[in-house]
Amino acid sequence: MKRHVRLPDGTEVPALGQGTWHMGETRRSAATEVAALKLGIDLGITLIDTAEMYGNGGAEEVVAQAIAGQRDKVFIVSKVYPHNASRTGVPAACERSLKRLGIDRLDLYLLHWRGSHPLAETVEAFEKLRETGKIRYWGVSNFDTDDMQELARLKHGGACATNQVLYNPDTRGIEFDLLPWCRGHAIPVMAYSPVGQGGRLLRSPALAAVAKRHNASPAQIAIAWSLREGHIISIPKASDFKHVRENAAAADVELTAEDLAEIDTRHPPPAQKESLGLL
Ligand SMILES: NC(=O)c1ccc[n+]([C@@H]2O[C@H](COP(=O)([O-])OP(=O)(O)OC[C@H]3O[C@@H](n4cnc5c(N)ncnc54)[C@H](OP(=O)(O)O)[C@@H]3O)[C@@H](O)[C@H]2O)c1
Repeated sequence: MKRHVRLPDGTEVPALGQGTWHMGETRRSAATEVAALKLGIDLGITLIDTAEMYGNGGAEEVVAQAIAGQRDKVFIVSKVYPHNASRTGVPAACERSLKRLGIDRLDLYLLHWRGSHPLAETVEAFEKLRETGKIRYWGVSNFDTDDMQELARLKHGGACATNQVLYNPDTRGIEFDLLPWCRGHAIPVMAYSPVGQGGRLLRSPALAAVAKRHNASPAQIAIAWSLREGHIISIPKASDFKHVRENAAAADVELTAEDLAEIDTRHPPPAQKESLGLL
């Protein structure tokens, strides 16, 4: 797994990561989830995406166990709830996340989605956390183009390192305007739900046909597709060891022009502005 993506300051981060939504929800499943994340790290999927929301903090605790003793190997992303995104709420939420994760600095801290606290206040709080060394980078999630434009106009808004949004062959509206806007500002996009949550997308005949040519699975094709342009970080979530192994290998699948055209036929790119897909 050699693919990397550049953050706006030129720092390279892994293009493939591991999601953690629905991890840490029950004590019974936690041991398997820890083992799955560890396996992913061993296979080179060293970027891990989590959030204070997932499992009500439980996912961060699962991540803590998976990264214990190997903090230097991993790039940890977490997210603050919009209702905590105030001047005082952000540092308090960050401390709680750090404690659950068992680390003293987050690599990337995201506003999970826009809420009622003024964006300028959230940015100011993120910048303070950066100054005090509690986080390395900050970014946003579920921001559409107009939100990104508003953010860019704020003081320090240009320091945003990423925008994490829904992106897979079935929901590719961001290609019309958001993706070009982010590329133009050297801001990589993080693609969430890249395998469509393991549902209908994986039964796509187009993905099946391309998968057959590559001796791969439809999920691997969906992940390779999300990584195809070198400007996207893809974060599939997998608790099943077979899925983890498949996903790690997906970063090595190189799609051809023929493959991409076949996927376009069944999953066409947007012809006009579409509002941002959300989960
Ligand atoms: N910022 C946001 O608002 C937001 C929203 C949604 C998600 N996210 C982040 O993005 C991550 C990924 O999104 P997601 O969890 O919604 O969906 P996803 O990664 O597209 O799909 C996860 C589902 O697909 C299955 N799966 C994974 N790899 C597979 C494979 N190779 N073959 C077949 N099935 C496979 C998983 O099963 P098993 O678990 O059984 O392996 C799980 O049920 C989340 O975990 C979270 O970290 C962020």
